[in-house]
Amino acid sequence: MRREDLDQNDLSNRSGVFYQDVLSGLREPMKRLPSKYFYDAAGDLLFQKIMRCPEYYLTRCEEEIFRDKAGELLEHLLQANRQVDLIELGAGDASKTQHLIGEMLQQQIHFTYRPIDISPHVLEQLGDRMRTAFPTIDLQAFQGDYFDGLADMATTGALPKVVLFLGANLGNMTRQQAAQFCVRLRSLLHTGDRVLLGIDLMKNPRIIQAAYADEAGLTWQFNMNLLRRMNKELGADFNEELFEHYCQYDPVSGTCSSYLVSLLDHVVHFPDEQVLFEKDELIHMEVSQKYRFEETQALARASGFMPVHAVADKRNWFVDVIWEAC
Ligand SMILES: C[S@@+](CC[C@H](N)C(=O)[O-])C[C@H]1O[C@@H](n2cnc3c(N)ncnc32)[C@H](O)[C@@H]1O
Repeated sequence: MRREDLDQNDLSNRSGVFYQDVLSGLREPMKRLPSKYFYDAAGDLLFQKIMRCPEYYLTRCEEEIFRDKAGELLEHLLQANRQVDLIELGAGDASKTQHLIGEMLQQQIHFTYRPIDISPHVLEQLGDRMRTAFPTIDLQAFQGDYFDGLADMATTGALPKVVLFLGANLGNMTRQQAAQFCVRLRSLLHTGDRVLLGIDLMKNPRIIQAAYADEAGLTWQFNMNLLRRMNKELGADFNEELFEHYCQYDPVSGTCSSYLVSLLDHVVHFPDEQVLFEKDELIHMEVSQKYRFEETQALARASGFMPVHAVADKRNWFVDVIWEAC
């Protein structure tokens, strides 16, 4: 796309944070793209398909926990509180959260549900889903980054907080980023507030590897969609035929890393920048960190929380841990 083809909207995109983040990632010696930009409307839809694909066990494990153990989760999240702010970070379509909300309404708990998500499209879907299932729900969504939403809520709500962070979202950070995230999360809570984190556990490496390289190629498409998004929103000219998706799980470190591999030497143009790719050069797209259960307890204590309860699925593949801010 030439400069004169850009309309005003394109120009504001190019000065925006998406453009800046993309370029700074692509200028690094090991190129990378932030995975939070996967989620435009097409990315949301692809992720919902991934959640239902046979290899992606994570959603089914956590769904089982929320469906079968909502009462147990609630008991440990609420303690004696009958009135709370229920905040959900990266809520997505909140398909699992529905079970907990149903249980809260049944137990006549008073709460405002406050989902935070970077994707405006998924928040619309979530609103429709929740208002259809629970017409009386008090729902106040925040569109934006986790901590912008949480900071906003920290200043407004005086009620005890219950914060949900499901779907192994914490795993989309390196161990170091996750530790910093938990410290920051703690700094925005009061003593006694509780959090629930969905964490994917280490297991047979073949099972994990398959979850991020599904047969139907949905994860491949999910990654390619970010190239399409940069073409559409930032005027880039990525050719997805010149990349392939590759993912590798290291069972020793528990890190699953996802990449796009350039198949040829070539140049990608943005309206006022160009990026050179060598044949076989990688773009790091996403990390999916797996944990041992004991590590999650150490993480809680190191960041100012006390681990108070945990519920795993029947196979012990996935755990929802509950921590109290102390
Ligand atoms: C892996 S999905 C999980 C969705 C949901 N929690 C679940 O368990 O099904 C990640 C969600 O977090 C959102 N997200 C990713 N990075 C974010 C960020 N930095 N701030 C806010 N939302 C973010 C995405 O838009 C997406 O809906």
